[in-house]
Formats: sequence, structure tokens, C-alpha cells
Amino acid sequence: MATTTTLAKADESVEYAARLEHVSKSFATPGGQQLVLDDITLDVAPGEFVTLLGASGCGKSTLLNLVAGLDRPTTGSIATDGRPALMFQEHALFPWLTAGKNIELALKLRGVAKNDRRDKAEQLLELVRLKGAYDKRVHELSGGMRQRAALARALAQESRLLLMDEPFSALDAITRDVLHDELTRIWQETGVSVLFVTHNVREAVRLAQRVILLSSRPGRIAREWEVGIPQPRRIEDAPVAELSLEITDVLRGEIRRHGQH
Ligand SMILES: Nc1ncnc2c1ncn2[C@@H]1O[C@H](COP(=O)(O)OP(=O)(O)O)[C@@H](O)[C@H]1O
Ligand SMILES: [Mg+2]
Repeated sequence: MATTTTLAKADESVEYAARLEHVSKSFATPGGQQLVLDDITLDVAPGEFVTLLGASGCGKSTLLNLVAGLDRPTTGSIATDGRPALMFQEHALFPWLTAGKNIELALKLRGVAKNDRRDKAEQLLELVRLKGAYDKRVHELSGGMRQRAALARALAQESRLLLMDEPFSALDAITRDVLHDELTRIWQETGVSVLFVTHNVREAVRLAQRVILLSSRPGRIAREWEVGIPQPRRIEDAPVAELSLEITDVLRGEIRRHGQH
């Protein structure tokens, strides 16, 4: 495993941003051990944008938590290039701090000197197009602005791997579209690697270089697609819609096979 540095750029000398080898995860339930993830082997390359797609309950969050180091696999191994940053559906900003101070806290935890924090926080707010929101409290921000601030806070960690768990699924469609554009731009500008979880097929295709489809009960890699459509894409683009249809058919087959929904 590579050592942690504070560079957000993809490091050519490192083979992977994340490497999962034969990862399985079971939980103890009243009915016995429940196998949630079964034999997941997967690399995220430095600078790559991968989406992990699957029906709800298939184990996406479980897998992301394992990569984040919040839980341990039952069998198999996981390695990441440094400590990943995390972003969830809920922004998880501290409500008693301003947007700027939330970001400064992340900078402080990373060891950034006090005198440099304000400037860096302002730069990060500018990167997510929240310039001028430094003094705003969380309740003064719209849902989209909160997720922008949460993204800025995740980026403040300068991890080379960003883990995102359905970060835009509580937003309205227009705000989500805008944030897709912003995330694509930021990914291209920073060179950060992204592992993005979603149950939304179009979102997966809109964003990713590679879409990995998880089956349900247990979660296994069912199929994967390389997405060669040039960025920036739009969710309405014909090639995005076409590939989404193909993936949806496979996903429906998976869901039918497991008798859910
Ligand atoms: N800590 C836990 N203990 C027991 N079961 C869990 C735990 N975490 C998740 N599960 C189960 O694992 C399955 C996958 O959950 P999750 O990873 O949240 O799915 P997804 O994010 O794809 O919707 C579900 O059946 C859920 O009930
Ligand atoms: Mg989930």
C-alpha cells in the first residue's frame, strides 16, 4: 500500500487508487450469517472515475464502507492509496459552524497551518462555485449548496480517492444535473480518483469511465461497462440514454432473478 501524501493528483507510480481482492462480507442476523458481498475483486486506477451501480439493498454502502475502512471485510483484502475521503447523501456538515469553518476544520485535521486555512477554504469554496458562502451557516444553504460545501470539505482532505455514496440522490433533477457537471469538472481538474455509488443508471452512465453492476443477495459483480462517451456528457444525450437502456435491462434481469421489488 502506498503511503499517504497530500497530493490530490493521480500518482503515476502507484498502480491503483483502490484494490479489492476476493472481498466478502457477512453480517450476523437472527436467522444466521447473511452473506451481503461475495467475492468482489476490483481495481480503481489512479485518476479513474468508477460508478458502482445496483438495486437498493444489494450491498453498495457496505462495500464503500469497507473501502473507507469503517468496517472490515469477512474475507479478502482491501488496499487504498492513502486514506480516502467520503461523501454521503446527507451532507454531514456541522450545523453550528459556517460553510467556511466546516472546511477549515477538515484542513485543521489534515494538519494545515492556522494561517493558511482561511485562504485554502476560500479556494475550495471557489472550486465548488460557492464563492462568498464562507460565512453562511448550514441552514442558510440550499440542498445543492450544502452538497457543494460537503464536496469542498471532502476535497479539503486532499485524498487521492474520493468515495461518494449516492451524494445527489436527495436533490431535485435540475440541481443534480448541475452538480454532475461540477463533479465532472472537478474530477478532471484535480485528477482525483472517484468511486461513486448509485442506484440511478443514468447517473452512473453520465459520470463514469466504467460502470460496475452489482447483483443482489449476495452482491457480486454481475457485469461492467467501459463508457467511451466523451465528457462533458449530458444526461439527455442519446449515447447516454442508449447505454442506460442496455444496463437497465441487465439490472432488471438481476432484480427479477432475486425476486425483489
Ligand atoms: N451492520 C449491519 N448488520 C446487519 N446487516 C447489515 C448491516 N449493514 C448492512 N446490512 C445489510 O446488508 C444489505 C446491504 O445493505 P447496504 O450495503 O446498505 O445496501 P445498499 O447501499 O446497496 O442499498 C442489506 O440487506 C442490509 O440490511
Ligand atoms: Mg446505500
